[in-house]
Amino acid sequence: MIEFKNVRKTFEDGTEAIKGIDLVIPEGELTALIGPSGCGKTTTMKMINKLIVPTDGNIYINGEEIASKNEVELRRNIGYVIQRIGLLPHMTIAENIALIPKLKGWKKEQYEPRVDELLELVGLEPEVYKKRYPLELSGGQQQRVGVIRALAAEPPIILMDEPFSALDPISREQLQDELKTLQQKIHKTIVFVTHDMDEALKIADNIAVMKDGMIEQYGSPDELLTNPANEFVKTFIGEHRMSKGTAAFVVKDVMSKDLTLLKGSAGPIISSGAAISLAAKKLLETNAEFLAVDENGETIGYVTKEDILRAVADKEGSTHAG
Ligand SMILES: Nc1ncnc2c1ncn2[C@@H]1O[C@H](COP(=O)(O)OP(=O)(O)O)[C@@H](O)[C@H]1O
Ligand SMILES: [Mg+2]
Repeated sequence: MIEFKNVRKTFEDGTEAIKGIDLVIPEGELTALIGPSGCGKTTTMKMINKLIVPTDGNIYINGEEIASKNEVELRRNIGYVIQRIGLLPHMTIAENIALIPKLKGWKKEQYEPRVDELLELVGLEPEVYKKRYPLELSGGQQQRVGVIRALAAEPPIILMDEPFSALDPISREQLQDELKTLQQKIHKTIVFVTHDMDEALKIADNIAVMKDGMIEQYGSPDELLTNPANEFVKTFIGEHRMSKGTAAFVVKDVMSKDLTLLKGSAGPIISSGAAISLAAKKLLETNAEFLAVDENGETIGYVTKEDILRAVADKEGSTHAG
């Protein structure tokens, strides 16, 4: 977990880039920082690996303040991917990927298989690509190598600053898909800077919308879509995306309030705020006819498979209509 507590950054020329942010970035999730150019995304990200030092406030990684940490040591545990990845041109792809593991003292028997494994993970045949030099790869392929290079030494945290924005739309979408699949396997704590809302909605677990050095809203993609905090967030998300509403709704929205069915039964329970996907899963797992819906220790209704099917069908209908 990475935590910002009342962090500010004023540059020497007086630019107030970050005007006081509090942010909790959960472990093992992908958190996007999004906002217009100049709003402070890169500054926020660079404070995590101490490329930029805050003027005020503290940043903690797993509860430890980073201010007192050795920055070289800190950065070895934080992968970093930027827009133009800067693979080292005179090193082969294999050498580029193995660089940080080697610096960390890994032995050949450890890093060699790792290089192959990572190349395979992003669909680059090791025997074909290992011995090539960066300029012998397309932009999309180079960027893939940039991503796996950041993963090579298995850092728990990876920072990605607009890593795909210099790519053509097709490569960009492919890499977004690959990153998503990859993250399902590796569950790293990823901080991902973007100015592209479609990208953020597609890949992020959490999104912080920034403006003028402050965070306007922080939440899941669904929360932003269904409940934008203000006009700025609304505009930034765009009406067309909100009407699409990929949002999951919760058990309380679809349950039946008639409690007669529940009399004397002690079936499985689910909380009123749980996603309906969770309710569906629980119904299938327990093979129960219904789940009792609990809110603060009180049973307020029940939900059946039919309730869920109906709700999903309605949702599909409205999605396509919108
Ligand atoms: N080294 C610097 N010195 C002075 N101002 C800076 C410096 N780096 C960034 N800034 C300013 O801080 C603000 C935030 O920059 P940045 O974090 O790079 O924004 P973003 O990544 O969201 O585009 C901008 O106004 C930018 O011009
Ligand atoms: Mg930036």
